[in-house]
Amino acid sequence: MTTPPRHIHRYSPANVDSAQDGRMFSPSFERNAEPIRAALEPVVGSRSATLLEIGSGTGQHAAFFAQAFPKLRWAPSDPVPEHRVSIAAWRRWAEADNLDAPIDLDAAGDWAGMAEVVALGPLAAIFSMNVVHIAPWSVAQGIVAGASRALGQGGRLILYGPFAEGGRHTGEGNARFDAALRAENPEWGVRDLDDVAALARDAGFGAVQVIAMPSNNRLVVFTRG
Ligand SMILES: C[S@@+](CC[C@H](N)C(=O)[O-])C[C@H]1O[C@@H](n2cnc3c(N)ncnc32)[C@H](O)[C@@H]1O
Repeated sequence: MTTPPRHIHRYSPANVDSAQDGRMFSPSFERNAEPIRAALEPVVGSRSATLLEIGSGTGQHAAFFAQAFPKLRWAPSDPVPEHRVSIAAWRRWAEADNLDAPIDLDAAGDWAGMAEVVALGPLAAIFSMNVVHIAPWSVAQGIVAGASRALGQGGRLILYGPFAEGGRHTGEGNARFDAALRAENPEWGVRDLDDVAALARDAGFGAVQVIAMPSNNRLVVFTRG
């Protein structure tokens, strides 16, 4: 088992509850799970296909989405061992045949060539929520570069979280959040959608769909050309 770099954000008992069976609880789950499910539904909901999730965290969302989209094979991943323990506990709890065991995946690395990723077969979508702002820019670069390799034509890269647009935060709360992130780690920060879209364009993604979500978040869907 690899030890993830210290700069990786991790949940701790200080900010997440946990159940005796090892499940950690996402602080945002009650607020955002259903709106995200509804936004994902037309993109991936009815498909018999495989989705790889990057930075699954507690795994609480993965369990919910796997139950909500039974045709979809949901493959969660996270580089932090404690998170993978929680994801595995949520997987046992969910009893969803379409939810895979978590993969140890650091998105800043060359993950698209990993045996566990290749073994998933053709991927229809790669989904990452609340990751690129709480990780160095190299993680955003790694997600886009890897997705470009791992997805076939028409495959979707779906990012959820706070994004600035045209150099401006989409709300006062996001401006404060950005400042707090950068104070905690100068390599973190709310990303500008233009910068992420430029990465995606350079990596071969075409159409971009931006869906406004509660609390000034965005669900961004890039389609592989
Ligand atoms: C704020 S949490 C979000 C977790 C979950 N997606 C959610 O929204 O509840 C950020 C997650 O990103 C993961 N992460 C941080 N750096 C990463 C990296 N280099 N590659 C993949 N995941 C990473 C962390 O382990 C953590 O689980």
